[in-house]
Amino acid sequence: MIVSDLPTPALIVERADLSANIALMAERLPGNRLRPHVKAHKCTALAHLQDAAGHHGFTCATPREVVGMAAAGLGADLLLANETLDPARLRAMADLEVPVTVAVDSPQTVAAAAEHGITRVVIDVNVGLPRCGVDAAGAGAIADLARARGLEVRGVMGYEGHAQPLPDRALRQQVTDEAMVLLAKAAQDVGGDLVSAGGTGNHDLNTVATEIQAGSYALMDSQYAGVVGFANALTVLATVVSTNAAGGYAVADLGLKSLGMDHGNPTTAAGAVWFCSDEHTTFAPAEPVAIGEKLRFVPAHVDPTIAYHDALWVVDGQDVLERWEVDLRGW
Ligand SMILES: Cc1ncc(COP(=O)(O)O)c(C=O)c1O
Repeated sequence: MIVSDLPTPALIVERADLSANIALMAERLPGNRLRPHVKAHKCTALAHLQDAAGHHGFTCATPREVVGMAAAGLGADLLLANETLDPARLRAMADLEVPVTVAVDSPQTVAAAAEHGITRVVIDVNVGLPRCGVDAAGAGAIADLARARGLEVRGVMGYEGHAQPLPDRALRQQVTDEAMVLLAKAAQDVGGDLVSAGGTGNHDLNTVATEIQAGSYALMDSQYAGVVGFANALTVLATVVSTNAAGGYAVADLGLKSLGMDHGNPTTAAGAVWFCSDEHTTFAPAEPVAIGEKLRFVPAHVDPTIAYHDALWVVDGQDVLERWEVDLRGW
């Protein structure tokens, strides 16, 4: 099969770029210095490559990702870096025959974990991103509560998501450092070995975390392209379905339902993107394009883009090598 045979819109992964990204990160953060975040790709076939590169612990965002990783034989050390109260999902993770660690940040999440069979937790600390996490000053008390319920407290996590996309490296460092002062303080109060934080944007700036939770680096997207030097391995293949020469635009068959749009429009070497609607992207071709032509677009945000699709098509230029199921979708 060749790329132009694929039904569109389709996710395309350049195998050589993916391999180079995985190798580069493994060189920078070898072994358990990196706990790859699987939410970026939701694909156990890809996670197997990260495992083969030496990273055996993984970060997950949903119980479904935890269960799917364990089923794929990738359950050496799974961290759910997220709060959950759902008894059935907690029980599904607790019943796995692999070590699962769950983030908690409140008496309620500690109680839910303890009541539904979870045995290991990390204390999730708010390091400046207004999302989950207890204030650093309150982390020790949550750890005490967890230990009193018989849970093993492995340490702390804190996600400095507000630092990741900052294009100015010095500012990214400063915001990271400010966040890690909070996490280091919490780590002292909590105890345990793990200080889990960071992402693709500051993987080489965060020196406080014992492990970095980067995920996007493997495939990348246009938002991170200006921030870190990994290759763009992921594109969305689309077909030109209409042209309007007088209007100076053409239309391709990808849109809001095949692209994560929270970081903006996709980009393409074929021209400037004007806008996306449900199933269309209108762009101004730099050179005339023909109806039926297949073009590649780089999504602005990899994680939600992948979550819309069933499969990743692994390619080498025009040759389709493999189809990988996006098998960790859902909650
Ligand atoms: C908890 C957590 N850790 C780490 C990351 C970093 O992921 P990425 O490398 O894709 O920026 C994220 C991304 O949102 C996250 O939510």
